[in-house]
Amino acid sequence: MKKVTRLGLIMIMGLVMLLAACGSSETSGGDEKKKLRVVTDAAYAPFESLEGDQVVGFDVDFLSAVLEEAGYEVVQPEHVGWDPLFIEIESKEADLAISAITINDDRKQTYDFSFPYFLSTNKILVPEGSDIKSGADLEGKVVAVQNGTTGQETAEAILGKNSKDIKKFENNNLAIMELEAGGADAVVADNTVIEEYAKNNPEKNLVVIEDPSFAAEYYGLMFPKDSELVSELNEAINKVFDSGKYAEIYEEWFGSEPDVDNLKAQQ
Ligand code: ARG
Repeated sequence: MKKVTRLGLIMIMGLVMLLAACGSSETSGGDEKKKLRVVTDAAYAPFESLEGDQVVGFDVDFLSAVLEEAGYEVVQPEHVGWDPLFIEIESKEADLAISAITINDDRKQTYDFSFPYFLSTNKILVPEGSDIKSGADLEGKVVAVQNGTTGQETAEAILGKNSKDIKKFENNNLAIMELEAGGADAVVADNTVIEEYAKNNPEKNLVVIEDPSFAAEYYGLMFPKDSELVSELNEAINKVFDSGKYAEIYEEWFGSEPDVDNLKAQQ
């Protein structure tokens, strides 16, 4: 008897929720929010990584704030992988990509970018006690990178474009695994990613080497060429900067204050 009552209660609750849902969609009428398709490579914590089937990270929270500000439905980026995301944007199968993507001249020929939203630079991840102390020391060493990233470019600038000593991986986690397995002497990747990794995995005894000659890079949302979304979302990005929402999300993920003025000065 007790079971039946509980079941009955659950059914009533379900019915109430259903009615409430119908009610709200009726009242919101025609102005249902537009939904964009956003793609990413969720193997780049703390920007985007998979937690079960959820993509989480700074990029995800920043994207949510921007979509909300622009009046779009707040969606999660879909994990498609790094090389595929460029294909999806070029062929316009997706509306935009967010994936710690560095804005650069080469990519600008094929894609459009939003205003910069994050300052980054490449750094070098090595085992403790390594004799690699600078970028130049990578010469003659085996370097693991994620294929098609600015980390690869940085390594190529030192080792040469077709160097066999550069091992390229589909994602950055695989590059780090190669280092840990002893198949590479270093990984070159975005500072925040390898710094977090070294900090969160102290038992791996890894250290991060900085080379001041490595360029400053800025991340942007990436769109198909001539997408109308660019100016719309740029406006939303500035509102997210100005409202303090950006600083709030940044502090949540990185525990420090962002230099919003510097980001805005790049526009
Ligand atoms: N910022 C670098 C680039 O644009 C690396 C980005 C890699 N992102 C990722 N989600 N795996 O080349």
